Amino acid sequence: ASMEALSLSPPMSPPVILTQDELKKIAAYKAVEFVESGMVLGLGTGSTAKHAVDRIGDLLRQGKLTNIVGIPTSKKTQEQALSLGIPLSDLDSHPAIDLAIDGADEVDPHLNLVKGRGGSLLREKMVEGACKKFVCIVDESKLVKHLGGSGLALPVEVVPFCWKFTANKLQNLFERSGCVAKLRSDCEGKPFVTDNGNFIIDLYVKEELGDLQVASDAILRIAGVVEHGMFLDMATTVIVAGELGITIKNK
Ligand code: 5RP
Repeated sequence: ASMEALSLSPPMSPPVILTQDELKKIAAYKAVEFVESGMVLGLGTGSTAKHAVDRIGDLLRQGKLTNIVGIPTSKKTQEQALSLGIPLSDLDSHPAIDLAIDGADEVDPHLNLVKGRGGSLLREKMVEGACKKFVCIVDESKLVKHLGGSGLALPVEVVPFCWKFTANKLQNLFERSGCVAKLRSDCEGKPFVTDNGNFIIDLYVKEELGDLQVASDAILRIAGVVEHGMFLDMATTVIVAGELGITIKNK
């Protein structure tokens, strides 16, 4: 692993207090510097990835990037990219992606991620699993010592059929970590439905999950589970924007 740190403000200038959204934008713009004309690009989902997609749209419009093909990771990103005039395709036509840029909810010191609090984890995992480089972009609040460490949920996409049965199986799997499994609901209190017509079970764990690969395999062995939000050993680069500057961590 390698690490590079870049300061945001010139030496001697007064410190600038940036909002979380400004930090997200700084990380996103930095990631877009990795984009070259002619690339097939995985387009992430969420408020951080949105800045990257906006930036790619700007550069295309200015003629600074040409011949880009975007592979969106959600219907929302697809709509955004279409509105910006970014040419789009899918994994069926472009099974090899040059570079994907996407956010994350948690990043551990080994660059393992939790994703999916926006609900797009399945398409994100399919697209980001098919790319040569996956640049993850976060503000420093997303850094954790171990996954599950932010007190927020590990999302699991499940089929709607007998979701309570699946949720119980998931909760029992991590009983020793004090796991509580909850069905995610939308703003109207109805079950949140993913782009793939599935539900999300959020797993709240009080303690470390232990060996993450073992946890991943165990979750995926439960019939009814479609995918989970742990992205193990997938990010090749993580760009972290913080008050003191940008840190670039490479695998
Ligand atoms: C969506 C995701 C997002 O990348 C993740 O939730 C981070 O979102 P944001 O950039 O809005 O903080 O995994 O499924």
